Amino acid sequence: MDQIKLTPLFTENQIKEKVVELGKQITAKYNNQDLICVCILNGSFMFFSDLIREIDCDLTCDFLGLSSYEGTQSTGEVKITLDLTQSIKGKNILLVEDIVDTGTTIEAIYQLLKTRNPETITTATLLHKPESQVTDQKPDFVGFEVGNEFVVGYGLDYNNQYRTLPYIAQVNNIN
Ligand code: IMP
Repeated sequence: MDQIKLTPLFTENQIKEKVVELGKQITAKYNNQDLICVCILNGSFMFFSDLIREIDCDLTCDFLGLSSYEGTQSTGEVKITLDLTQSIKGKNILLVEDIVDTGTTIEAIYQLLKTRNPETITTATLLHKPESQVTDQKPDFVGFEVGNEFVVGYGLDYNNQYRTLPYIAQVNNIN
């Protein structure tokens, strides 16, 4: 395992409170309409599993596997590694991301899924790096805003490590 320094940013409790708050906002928006919640793999699996239990409406889950990062650098190319298992035509879709950085990934998914004619697509992300975003569309539901620092924990990884940390930390001293 690489030796890096972690500086805690958000505690387990802060994350729990934020997830409850986001669940309430999403419940209020969908107000008993059907919803397909799409987990953008890999990083959002932990956030997703907590968030869907805080959304009080008739929802189903699906999973979209994507990969674009190596280490702390985006390769700039978004690859689908696992596709949805159902038709989304005429459905309300909530895309659940761990973090929106440049916004390229969520934009690519949005454009892809739009071609499948859903009724609506909205996005929820636990973390947002507004200074890094280069695309226009802001996420609809945001947990915390962060700066340009690379973060890990609560599902987010650095080269597949640190995903199981129950809190979110900033990564320092990457060589
Ligand atoms: P974007 O396309 O630049 O918005 O990047 C989105 C994806 O990059 C996220 O779903 C993460 O998988 C990954 N990512 C971006 N920033 C971080 C970070 O600080 N820590 C861990 N993963 C990150």
